[in-house]
Amino acid sequence: MVRKITVIGGGYVGEHVAQGLMLQELAQEVVLIDVVEDMPQGKGLDQRQSAPVWGKDTKVTGTNDWADTKGSDIVIHTAGRPRKPGMSRDDLLEANVAIVRPCMEQVKTLSPDATVIMVANPLDAMTYVAKQTLGFPKNRIFGMAGILDTARFRAFIAMETGVSVRDIQAMVLGGHGDTMVPLPRFTTIAGLPLEHWVSKDKIDAMVERAAKGGGEIVKLLKFGSAYYAPSAGAVEMAEAIVKNSHRVLPCCAFLEGEYKHEGIYMGVPVILGENGIDKIIEYPFNDTEQAMFDKSVEATKGLLEDVKKFL
Ligand code: 2OP
Repeated sequence: MVRKITVIGGGYVGEHVAQGLMLQELAQEVVLIDVVEDMPQGKGLDQRQSAPVWGKDTKVTGTNDWADTKGSDIVIHTAGRPRKPGMSRDDLLEANVAIVRPCMEQVKTLSPDATVIMVANPLDAMTYVAKQTLGFPKNRIFGMAGILDTARFRAFIAMETGVSVRDIQAMVLGGHGDTMVPLPRFTTIAGLPLEHWVSKDKIDAMVERAAKGGGEIVKLLKFGSAYYAPSAGAVEMAEAIVKNSHRVLPCCAFLEGEYKHEGIYMGVPVILGENGIDKIIEYPFNDTEQAMFDKSVEATKGLLEDVKKFL
């Protein structure tokens, strides 16, 4: 357990992250901060009152005051505009740069030793903006999306095969957008390759559904985007850091030559522990996989050009 984890943004993702951190007792204190007056205080108090029922000692508090976040060990940034039906994650760029930058300036001043997990979209660009603003080393600033995209793929595989999600190992890499890179070749159930279990057509359909999984939820919800799976992904990353468990998880990490690219954030498998990212793991891509990854890098590079207009 660490002393303090701050969750920035008291919307659906933020409140579920706070609750997940509390249910797993990953910190003594979880601070939920939002600009909306009284709302985070209300959610914090409600969660605090749920703690006796759950039997958890983590204290969740809500606030509008950055001073309350001082000295955080981990910061999870969820604040940002969500997608509405018909929007792509990239449409959120300008609005969310304007939210991420001032928040990261506060984090830099008040929690200079924190490890920062970004969740706001468009994820790869927002993690880059956060790194530029914070100036933290790359091991302490990264993003959550690969766990979410991979979880979607695993869920669809479980629905198709009837096998427990716990026995399904998968990786979805690349950017968190239309060009993400699901890797059926590296997907196994209990050690057996996916094609042993499911036909090629069905695999292709699941790959397609996983890549468009966020949009599917936006369309169904109508008021915003997914929050149960994204918040679960952020909590899983926090758990790996707090418990120093060295999980191998797909995260949005800063590349410096890995996968043939540099100076960009992309979803790649990393080893995650108390120092944040210990190491990026390089999968032996074939030409098709590398080409898909390169395309995803190009898409994110285009976004970064746009980001520069707003910095
Ligand atoms: C998603 O894929 C919100 O980007 C998030 O659902």
